[in-house]
Amino acid sequence: MALVTTKEMFAKALVSDYAIGAFNVNNMEIVQGIVDAAKIEKAPLILQVSAGARKYARPAYLVKLVEAAIEDTGLDICLHLDHGEDFDICKKCVDDGFTSVMVDGSKHPFEENIALTKQVVEYAHAHGVVVEAELGKLAGVEDNISVDERSAKFTDPAEAQEFVERTGVDSLAIAIGTSHGAYKFKGDPYLDFERLKEIHALIPETPLVLHGASTVLREFVDRCNEFGGEIPGAQGVPEEMIREATKYGICKVNIDTDLRLAMTAEIRRFLVENPSEFDPRKYLGPARDAIQRMVQHKIRDVLNASNTL
Ligand code: G3H
Ligand code: 13P
Ligand code: ZN
Repeated sequence: MALVTTKEMFAKALVSDYAIGAFNVNNMEIVQGIVDAAKIEKAPLILQVSAGARKYARPAYLVKLVEAAIEDTGLDICLHLDHGEDFDICKKCVDDGFTSVMVDGSKHPFEENIALTKQVVEYAHAHGVVVEAELGKLAGVEDNISVDERSAKFTDPAEAQEFVERTGVDSLAIAIGTSHGAYKFKGDPYLDFERLKEIHALIPETPLVLHGASTVLREFVDRCNEFGGEIPGAQGVPEEMIREATKYGICKVNIDTDLRLAMTAEIRRFLVENPSEFDPRKYLGPARDAIQRMVQHKIRDVLNASNTL
């Protein structure tokens, strides 16, 4: 039981039809719900911390919580920085004991993205830490966007090959139609599987990463709305599309929005049904249980990763 990199877990996932869930963590109940699910499902696990999570919880806390989770469950866990936007935050996380960092240079021109990624790879590798980079821009829900405009944002397969060769990065996040948050598609969900297959064929040894992969579970959106929420029009990636993507090199699937929805739905329900209750443990406990059930469902039914340890 230890903090581990993604090297071994990705090597196994790359030659199999399953992917590893990378779940965003912000507090103790979220960490506990996720690790308990991974333990029951006997699945490899990545816990990831965004810059926002690091700021919210303060840098030391989430590292210590993940260390406590390892001690408590006996699991090996990868602690990953999600969307590090510059060298400084990547370096800080390497120095803090993270075993994996993402350097997200996707907003920069190609050559600048390469230069930034190389700088992070050099520092991280010297410290035994692996690096994920991103090429292409995740789609947003935008009105009247043409097919050409959409595919201009998606990852170019030839560029992906050049990017991986020149940076020495360990895994690559690609853009094929997903986006962050609860509103991913206005019309029919669409992922560019042909592009994914082309990228995988050109860089078959590189584990690919799918960001924006929440399926936005109806159950939680409906429960939020039933108890006074207002999240109309939410639409995630269909489960079968995520399962399909795991066959073509997608080894890491990022999930945050579904955790937020599961937690908030349960807290909303509890507080509406128990208006005179004010002990936080009374609503954070059921919220933690809801996260655990949801993560078990993801690992088992969407990522196909149960019993892969
Ligand atoms: O990709 C974004 C993740 O959902 C993290 O979101 O920056 O609000 O923590 P955050
Ligand atoms: P979702 O918003 O679909 O959960 O994506 C999370 C993510 O990509 C974190 O990096
Ligand atoms: Zn992301």
